[in-house]
Amino acid sequence: MSTTTQAPKQLDPAASLHAETLGLAKGRGRLEGRRIIVVGAGQRNIIDAEPPVGNGRAMSVLFAREGAHVACIDISKEAADDTVRQITSEGGRAFTDVVDVSDIAAIAPAIARCAKQLGGLDGLALNVGISCGLSLPKMTAEAWDRDYAVNVRSHMLFAQAALDVMSPGGAITLTSSMASQRANGRNPAYESSKAAQIALGRAIARAGEEKGIRCNVIAPGFIDSPMGRDASRRRADRALTVPFGRQGTGWEVAYAALFLISNESSYVNAYTLFLDAGHMAGIVRT
Ligand SMILES: NC(=O)c1ccc[n+]([C@@H]2O[C@H](COP(=O)([O-])OP(=O)(O)OC[C@H]3O[C@@H](n4cnc5c(N)ncnc54)[C@H](O)[C@@H]3O)[C@@H](O)[C@H]2O)c1
Repeated sequence: MSTTTQAPKQLDPAASLHAETLGLAKGRGRLEGRRIIVVGAGQRNIIDAEPPVGNGRAMSVLFAREGAHVACIDISKEAADDTVRQITSEGGRAFTDVVDVSDIAAIAPAIARCAKQLGGLDGLALNVGISCGLSLPKMTAEAWDRDYAVNVRSHMLFAQAALDVMSPGGAITLTSSMASQRANGRNPAYESSKAAQIALGRAIARAGEEKGIRCNVIAPGFIDSPMGRDASRRRADRALTVPFGRQGTGWEVAYAALFLISNESSYVNAYTLFLDAGHMAGIVRT
């Protein structure tokens, strides 16, 4: 038996790159007239000559490109304003609303404010997520609670408030992670809070049924968002074995969210869509 470790075989990612993958496809009116709130609609700043698009920004831009009026909620005014600028530069409609989602008292008023400005509410995309990155031996109660306040409690409070005002037939999405199923990252607060989101998504779907409101969860694998690029810098072996020889893009996450928030998925409910190019199914470079 050989003891030498070989680097994974490299693939040319070009074969799996499409206009949609890169956010270059034209809108097709898939959300015409819809009023949607995106929570975590900005993106974190990283030091990079060409920072990639984040999941929340890609969702906001894509929803607007497809005809929705979008409320961009974020703790960072600057980050949300950048998203709004990108949308309006394409001729879309959007506005910023600044909220720290760990502030319990701020959430219901934010939903009420945004729904009023939008003239109603048809969709809610819960994208915000943080990670303290602490392993179990180093975990603190404060860091644990902070991840849970943002990743789980805020989603529950946003959904609770949104269900009251959302029009019948609306849709909600949550952004979980492949980390909900795996301990590779030694990141238990993140991993378990992402697993909790999957159960919460089912509970929201249960609560929404009377109004015909659906709730589904997207669980991305390795995505080259600012968050993913930062994580890959910290752990160089993080995503070496990914399918197609590349990580996913924020646009690919956004297209999954677009399907789930649009009426095209009208009979898809309480479902978790793993967006990992088959990684968890064993499509892994060796
Ligand atoms: N990148 C990956 O590899 C990957 C993989 C799986 C899942 N995800 C999930 O995708 C989601 C985030 O993706 P992204 O690319 O948009 O990340 P991002 O970090 O670039 O953006 C998140 C946004 O949330 C905002 N935010 C942070 N804390 C907040 C708070 N307390 N209140 C309000 N806003 C706050 C930030 O300002 C930022 O604009 C997360 O839920 C993450 O868990 C990412």
